[in-house]
Amino acid sequence: MGAINVIAIDGPAASGKSTVSQQVARELGFLFLDTGCMYRAVTLAAWQRGVDVMNETAVTHLAERLVIEIQPATNEEDGRHYTVLLDGQDVTWEIRTPTVDAHVSQVSSYLGVRQEMVRRQRAFGKRGQVVMVGRDIGTVVMPDAPLKLYITATAAERAHRRWQDRQNQGHTADYEAILADVERRDEIDSNREHSPLRPAADAIIIDTTGRPVEEVVAEIVGMVRPLAVNGKP
Ligand code: DC
Repeated sequence: MGAINVIAIDGPAASGKSTVSQQVARELGFLFLDTGCMYRAVTLAAWQRGVDVMNETAVTHLAERLVIEIQPATNEEDGRHYTVLLDGQDVTWEIRTPTVDAHVSQVSSYLGVRQEMVRRQRAFGKRGQVVMVGRDIGTVVMPDAPLKLYITATAAERAHRRWQDRQNQGHTADYEAILADVERRDEIDSNREHSPLRPAADAIIIDTTGRPVEEVVAEIVGMVRPLAVNGKP
C-alpha cells in the first residue's frame, strides 16, 4: 500500500462511523465528507418544496439542480462538526430531524439521485487527503481507495447511541421507536437495487460495539499514519 490519499468508510446507520471518521480526519489533517448529508439535503429540499418523495423523476430532477455545500463548522457552539448549506441556506440541523430520517432511505434508493451525488462525491475525492463516509464509498464511489473500512455495531447499540444523541440535544426520544427505525433503514439500505450497503471485498471490518470512540480512532490512525506521508513510514 502506498501513500493513503483517500480513506473510504462505510457502515450502517448510527454505527458511529461519522464521529469516528471526523476525528480521524482531524488527527490526520484530512478533509472530511459525510455523504449521508447530501442525501439528507435532497430529502429536506423535497419536503420543503412540496415534491412528493415517492416521485422518482421529480426528486431526481430536484437533486440535479440543488447546490449542496459541506463546509467546516461556522458555529461550533451549537455542537455542529460541519455546516451544510442547501442553496446557500444553513440546514445543518434541519437535515437531522425525524421527518428527514423517515424519508431519506427512499430518496437515496433512486438511481438518478445516486448518480448525481456520486458524481459530486468523486469530484470531492479528487482533492486528495480525504476521509469520505457513507454506504457505498468503498464499493462504488471510490473503489480504488487504498484503505477501506466498514464500521458497524449491533442494532441495539446503534439505537442506544441515537437515543442518547437526541437526549443530549434536548429532545424526548423513544428507544423502541428509534430501534425500529434503525432496523427499517438497515433493511432498505441493504436490500435496495442500486448500490446496496455492504462491505467492499477488501474492506477491513471494525465492530465498535462496546468500544469507546477514542479507541477506534486510535486504531484507524495507527493504520494510516505510517503510510500517510508519501508512503514512507
Ligand atoms: O449516514 P446517514 O444516516 O446520514 O445516511 C442517510 C441516508 O442516506 C441513509 O438512509 C443511507 C443513505 N446513504 C446512501 O445511500 N449512500 C451514502 N453514501 C450515504 C448515505
